[in-house]
Amino acid sequence: MNVVRKTEALRTRGRVGLVPTMGAFHEGHLSLMRAARAECDTVVVSLFVNPAQFGERDDLERYPRDEERDARLAAEAGVDILFAPTAQEMYPDGFATWVDVDEDGGEAAARPGHFRGVATVCLKLFNIVRPDVAYFGQKDAQQAAVLRRMVRDLNLGVQLRVLPTVRDADGLALSSRNAYLSARERETALALPRALEAGRTAADPVAATRAALNGLEPEYVEILTLGDATVLAAAARVGSTRLIDNVLLEGAIA
Ligand code: PAF
Repeated sequence: MNVVRKTEALRTRGRVGLVPTMGAFHEGHLSLMRAARAECDTVVVSLFVNPAQFGERDDLERYPRDEERDARLAAEAGVDILFAPTAQEMYPDGFATWVDVDEDGGEAAARPGHFRGVATVCLKLFNIVRPDVAYFGQKDAQQAAVLRRMVRDLNLGVQLRVLPTVRDADGLALSSRNAYLSARERETALALPRALEAGRTAADPVAATRAALNGLEPEYVEILTLGDATVLAAAARVGSTRLIDNVLLEGAIA
């Protein structure tokens, strides 16, 4: 596997699959890489902790970083190229062009500017890597829907594949941020997937989720219409760690 830092050094062939990431790989990332490996001739994984999608209250400085471990895991998953650009490569001096995203509710309301940063970096990655297919996880279902709409609105011609959330045996959705949780906080965090599961089959999913959160104070619990899918989504802080999760109520995200 090649580690590439400069846009002009990228060489791909055939059907190209891109897995955009911010590193700190877990089984969720690896499942996307394996899917790309099975479906594409060249698999590119981007590793860039994108400052533009972090707000003031967010955890940019402490976001987990371990490129050596990530490179080893990506190579084991059969990735051809790890594209790990510098901040200067992605946002050169004088950078002034952004993708403006109209989106309400959920992460858009809780993290103003977040999807502008995500859409901008993904558009750049799509332009740099020129993938045929890009792979995302359902845990970030709203992000996937925003990006799918961007692809349509801006005629980008990239196929987006959204694969199921990977969970630990106890139901907690895998996230790079889980690394921040103490053992006790991890126990508390389990209320999030359990409450969403309770809400999924209830007559009033939002009320049932809130009632089952076991004292965990949510930032939001909302039903979101994301393209052809309706999801029940929630975010909550456990200690200083912000977690999000969602379950499908109707339709399909794929
Ligand atoms: O989901 C993520 O890890 C990030 O939002 C992404 C898509 C890599 C953009 O920085």
